[in-house]
Amino acid sequence: MESHILASQLRRPNGEEASEVAQKMNEANRALNLKCIELLQLRASESLLEIGPGNGAFVADILSMASDISYMGLDWSPDMVEEAKRLNEHLVEQGCAQFQQGSSEQLPFEASTFNKVLTVHTLYFWKNPGDHLAEIRRVMKPNSLFCIAFGDRAFMKDLPFVPYGFNLYDCAEVCALLRSCGFQIVDTYQHKESGLSNTGEHVDKVINIITSKV
Ligand SMILES: C[S@@+](CC[C@H](N)C(=O)[O-])C[C@H]1O[C@@H](n2cnc3c(N)ncnc32)[C@H](O)[C@@H]1O
Repeated sequence: MESHILASQLRRPNGEEASEVAQKMNEANRALNLKCIELLQLRASESLLEIGPGNGAFVADILSMASDISYMGLDWSPDMVEEAKRLNEHLVEQGCAQFQQGSSEQLPFEASTFNKVLTVHTLYFWKNPGDHLAEIRRVMKPNSLFCIAFGDRAFMKDLPFVPYGFNLYDCAEVCALLRSCGFQIVDTYQHKESGLSNTGEHVDKVINIITSKV
């Protein structure tokens, strides 16, 4: 797949290629997502919002962390929302998982709704990240936890699809951004992994994971 097409699919998977791209993302990002889920320290009866879950490959892992978790996945790709609903049909029917189309720029939820918010590999695509973070803060309950994961600029800058619309950051920049939006940093981690990139090449990945609270 040409780099500009892959970049556009990673931003918002759609059409014929969407399923294949989502499958590759799930394989490439599995270990990272499982690490983030562990860091969220989910407790019984908590509610979690995931922004940009793609086809929702890790929802069962999230729900397995504690009893009676309620999961909401919000993705701006209608194709991903449909696929996530289909792949997680049993969890949707049981009433523990829901998927909606929408953007974190304007979250379709009331203030103080969620105990935990997670977003993995989405920040690059946000035009005004402060607007998204303000919305995330609005829907978080007091003392709730936000986990954001993104590839570090130093690792991402040479990937062939990055020139096509990716905004890159390092950990210090995102910590400063979070603080300016009223978040308190809880912890920062570097997830390092050797594996396949979305283009199928072997890469040494460096991913920042930041947990913060309001
Ligand atoms: C690169 S994929 C990452 C998918 C998954 N989180 C993972 O770790 O493999 C980005 C996904 O987030 C969605 N997305 C990006 N920014 C978003 C936003 N601001 N609001 C809702 N969905 C968003 C895209 O449609 C896509 O499904």
